Amino acid sequence: MKISFSTKTPAATEALVVVAFEKRRLSRGAVEIDAKTKGALKQAMAADRFTGAENEFLDVLAPAGVKTRRVVVAGLGKADSLDALAAQKLGGNLVAHLNRVGVKRAAVDVDGVTDGADIAATDFAANVAYGMRLRGYRFGKYRTKEKPKDKPTLDKLTVVVRRARTASAAFGELDRIADGVFFTRDLVSEPANVIYPESLARRARTLSKLGVKVEVLDVARMRKLGMGALLGVGQGSARGSRMVVMRWNGAPKGSKAPPVAFVGKGVTFDTGGISIKPAGGMEDMKWDMAGAGVVIGLMKVLAGRGARLDAVGVVGLVENMPSATAQRPGDVVTSMSGQTIEVINTDAEGRLVLADALWYCRSRFKPRVMVNLATLTGAIIVALGSYHAGLFSNDDDVAGKLIAAGEATGEPLWRMPLGERYDKDINSDIADMKNVGKGREAGSITAAQFLQRFVDETPWAHLDIAAVAWSKTAAATVPKGGTGFGVRLLDRFVADNYEAKKP
Ligand code: BES
Ligand code: MN
Ligand code: ZN
Repeated sequence: MKISFSTKTPAATEALVVVAFEKRRLSRGAVEIDAKTKGALKQAMAADRFTGAENEFLDVLAPAGVKTRRVVVAGLGKADSLDALAAQKLGGNLVAHLNRVGVKRAAVDVDGVTDGADIAATDFAANVAYGMRLRGYRFGKYRTKEKPKDKPTLDKLTVVVRRARTASAAFGELDRIADGVFFTRDLVSEPANVIYPESLARRARTLSKLGVKVEVLDVARMRKLGMGALLGVGQGSARGSRMVVMRWNGAPKGSKAPPVAFVGKGVTFDTGGISIKPAGGMEDMKWDMAGAGVVIGLMKVLAGRGARLDAVGVVGLVENMPSATAQRPGDVVTSMSGQTIEVINTDAEGRLVLADALWYCRSRFKPRVMVNLATLTGAIIVALGSYHAGLFSNDDDVAGKLIAAGEATGEPLWRMPLGERYDKDINSDIADMKNVGKGREAGSITAAQFLQRFVDETPWAHLDIAAVAWSKTAAATVPKGGTGFGVRLLDRFVADNYEAKKP
């Protein structure tokens, strides 16, 4: 989809979109079109259920007095609560609508929409375009027989706004975020015969052309480092495990701030191992690498928009398979930290991978803050459903910053507890710890307690994204499939709290 900004409405566009607020109040641009068409918009509203609420659309076809064959009145709801997210939603819902009715070229007139609102007209326009781009994503590479009528049609979009240059510049930055979100969505959507540790590492390597330094540790290297927890998970697979370390050095010269670090669970397929999962729904476990996918996409955003800080991304990549070489329930492994782990259940593998990735990251980089993401537990889906991801942290300040960034980007987090009593639940009779807690009780919390044993005093947060990494239904800015949840959130977390001011 080609997106541009203009101060003028293109004379002959297939569809012209104007905005209405609740109670059928037309925006300035809409009032103009209504006058040109001798009241066609008002008449159409009177003949329809359309009220101007969010995600309502009214198509006025072939009105007299204008060249465009279709005027779309788009509902935006309340005028006084307009913000960037409302603009993104409008754009996203609009893309779905235009594709449904088969429009190829459209112009969206947002002139006057933000009068009296807190958000600048140019930011609003940029965010409408951003929402359109986010919703326009599609993972279509494996479809070879799609009928044209089933394909999305929209390919050219013009956003009409005064000061189009400023809006276009604001969109430029958002466009880089979308690039990273799409990179993540692609990685997460790929099947596990295409994305496995080595091939995922290869995709991460492509970030080097943006200036990211990428290192890939192979099995031999990780063995030397003593990563027995991660390697135990991968030992049943024909695909060798990998760890990828990505560094973006964007801090201004002379900055002494330690890096901000992101760590991701990258289980490219989770069969459960010898503690094998049931067949039904197991295909979903191709996206058990979403945490790693988000970290890689985030590094792409930071490099793409030239973020002014030093950031590190570390992802642990393994395939969890049952085989003659797989680890067994009851095996004891030694992690890089020296702590020993009794593997009670080989399906609680994500925490084993993260144990070594977190320890490696904190020891090598001594980050000022370390955030990990993982599709870690089914229990977080039971606890929170898919409207919030779970947040666990040893630092109230970091937790607050993450929650705020989540609110601002529409990727909300809900904080869950940590504590000594939960921690005791993972003590083992024969090793330093075991990889599961007490049965099904507090499954997400005991998993987080396990991770916490590998971060020491580092300010740290764990995002359990098991419920939000993939969606079976579309939302305004997220088509169904891999969501990229976490990329926008963490980009904002970085931008609002850790970047050096622009000179
Ligand atoms: N990858 C799964 C968690 C998961 C489940 C993600 C469903 C997305 C959807 C994880 O490795 C796992 O299997 N966790 C177990 C832990 C249990 C064995 C303690 C779980 O949640 O059942
Ligand atoms: Mn598992
Ligand atoms: Zn898993």
